[in-house]
Amino acid sequence: MTDTASVLPSPVETETVAADTRAARAALNGLAALLATATVGESRLPADALAEGQDRLTQALGATPAAPNAPEGLPGLAGCGLGGLREPDAPLDLRAHPALIAPLCGLLAAHDGTAVILADALPKGLVPLLETMGAAVQGADHGARPPLSLRGTPTLMVPAMVPEDQPHEPVPLALARLFAGLACPGRTTAALPPTLGGPLADLLAAFGIPVALAPCGARLALTVTGEAETTPASLTADWVTAPPWVRAAQAASTGAITVAIDGPAAAGKGTLARSLADALGLAYLDTGRLYRATGYSVLQAGGDPSDPAAAEQAARSLDTRVLADPALRSEAAGDAASRVAAIPAVRDALLAFQRQFARTPPDGAWGAVLDGRDIGSVVCPSAPVKLFVTASAETRAQRRFLELRDAGQDVIESRILQDMKARDARDSSRGIAPLVPAADAVVLDTSDLDRTEALAAAFALAGDRLRAAGSDVARASMSHTGAS
Ligand code: DC
Repeated sequence: MTDTASVLPSPVETETVAADTRAARAALNGLAALLATATVGESRLPADALAEGQDRLTQALGATPAAPNAPEGLPGLAGCGLGGLREPDAPLDLRAHPALIAPLCGLLAAHDGTAVILADALPKGLVPLLETMGAAVQGADHGARPPLSLRGTPTLMVPAMVPEDQPHEPVPLALARLFAGLACPGRTTAALPPTLGGPLADLLAAFGIPVALAPCGARLALTVTGEAETTPASLTADWVTAPPWVRAAQAASTGAITVAIDGPAAAGKGTLARSLADALGLAYLDTGRLYRATGYSVLQAGGDPSDPAAAEQAARSLDTRVLADPALRSEAAGDAASRVAAIPAVRDALLAFQRQFARTPPDGAWGAVLDGRDIGSVVCPSAPVKLFVTASAETRAQRRFLELRDAGQDVIESRILQDMKARDARDSSRGIAPLVPAADAVVLDTSDLDRTEALAAAFALAGDRLRAAGSDVARASMSHTGAS
């Protein structure tokens, strides 16, 4: 069993994501400081969330610094609550924090009071949005140029966006609506790039704000319910890469947790599955390799992969040490795999291994990520996290074309597309374990996402499901102990 671990790749993808999220980290830490200010009680934040003038900003809005906590030394901030921000008696200088202008204006627009904002430039469309919501705005060029004087109203109305427009809404305006929506009745949905939307959903959840996530074109849609009670958060310095739900899910899991990732060829699910496993400390199984190893072993014995008896025999006597063999990536092994995969006795023979892997992952991991075609629907139907990763046939064909061309192969893109469409039709219509998303799977279309964005979206969606699963466990154990 331990040999299966050798098919685990290096954590390169995870590092890439960490590097890319670093750019958004400063803005996210600023948002953390803002949320702590709008929360009654003492929050713990990473030191950089309260550095570089953000401490002045939070204090101008009524927050008070608290002594660092003893073991971790994290700075503390006692906030004044949603709807309780103080009217600042001096201009708020956001020249060094342009990413905070829109969310802060959104939040202040819901407060009865006037704030003056100093900035080098204002996000385009912010002033009309604030006015539409009911705030009074004054500034040079009818409020188009800073400084900006903003008078909020407790009866703010946040405009809803039709879903088709959400993937195109400028990010600052989406943030302004979302933060305004925190202090207003009803639901507000804002779609953000996954690298920002994912950590922001984690941040809101860390402050006890219920947030629902859904894929939305090339973005993630965050839906918040206004006037939610916020609770103080405790964020460590690495909260973006190790959000609180990772530890919470680990602590709440009584058995091994399973992340099921299904989808067609070249949709990017393998990369996502490996990276998720690395980021979460889970074991990883590429179940396609089981079918490839079975087909390949029939070929090596001189047999026909379409012969049910030979294929079943190969599946039943599969030696998992061969799973790391690079020869399994070959076209011949792929073709043999697709033949043996259509034989019910083969699927049956491989089922036990896959379920065993999920139930007792190697090396004591707290769970496993399995990727394939039928993980969420057949192999692990009760997995708490199910993603169906897909992309248009054209996108997948182009990715496969570039991959093969870079590997020095002489390939024609139109031929690959043709084969891809034929294989999709075969996989989706086959009688046994056809390629269809499980009813409770989240469908993530990666056509318009690059690798980093796709991973950020998958990470956030997995977190959303694990958070929900964790609170189910917490609720169940509370009702067990008689708590209400
Ligand atoms: O993902 P891949 O290309 O390595 O998969 C090889 C073949 O195995 C492919 O034809 C689909 C099939 N397969 C399957 O039927 N069920 C799985 N869980 C995984 C792969």
